[in-house]
Amino acid sequence: MAPRKLAAGNWKMNGDLAALAEIDALIAAHPAPGCEVLVCPPAVLLHPMKRRIGGGPVALGGQDCHAKPSGAHTGDIAAGQLKDVGAAYVILGHSERRADHGETDAAVAAKAAAACAAGLTAIICVGETEAQRDAGETLDVIAAQMDGSIPGGATAANTVIAYEPVWAIGTGRTPTNDQIAEVHALMRERLAGKIGDGAAVRLLYGGSVKPGNAAEIFAIPHVDGALVGGASLKAADFGAIIAAL
Ligand code: G3P
Repeated sequence: MAPRKLAAGNWKMNGDLAALAEIDALIAAHPAPGCEVLVCPPAVLLHPMKRRIGGGPVALGGQDCHAKPSGAHTGDIAAGQLKDVGAAYVILGHSERRADHGETDAAVAAKAAAACAAGLTAIICVGETEAQRDAGETLDVIAAQMDGSIPGGATAANTVIAYEPVWAIGTGRTPTNDQIAEVHALMRERLAGKIGDGAAVRLLYGGSVKPGNAAEIFAIPHVDGALVGGASLKAADFGAIIAAL
């Protein structure tokens, strides 16, 4: 059984073939990590990265998939294609995709259902904007996103939820520990009502996680790991976060 804690790196639209050396360095420094380690590179790097990591301690994930299994959808990638090149996970509903591509909760739920049908674990992202937090709407926003984005058939085995406040992504700002705890407690409660084994679903925090704040964030109740952007690009930084988990 996979370790419960998960350190997931989201490279976003960063990296190239030369950057795969960071994966070699990460594995060399952490050959037997105490948590599950996942890296989600841009689609063009999935296959070459899989060739580098083989069956080692780092799992592979995509950053998006289509809701359909195949067909005339230029530029899109099917969940089964991610699986075919060795991915085990796919990030869905990241706020950058919700903003850049107009992805709705319903679209995210359809993609997550396709991912699960293909044998992938979906990492479904939710998070409030700064304006929503300032307006006191955070918990309502998170609850609504969860209700709309988690498909029927979701289980602890095929679903991970990542709380990423939009205003904390790439800004160096993070919520207070109490704010993270409040949202994660809500997510846990919401899952219990929605999924049979909701208590076992892993809940990640994402947004400016760094080596310097990782241990403190990981100590917050119901935080089962992190979804890391910028700090996942360098083996030394991501390795330090892995070691803190
Ligand atoms: O998906 C990870 C992410 O959005 C957080 O990015 O750079 O703030 O760690 P970053």
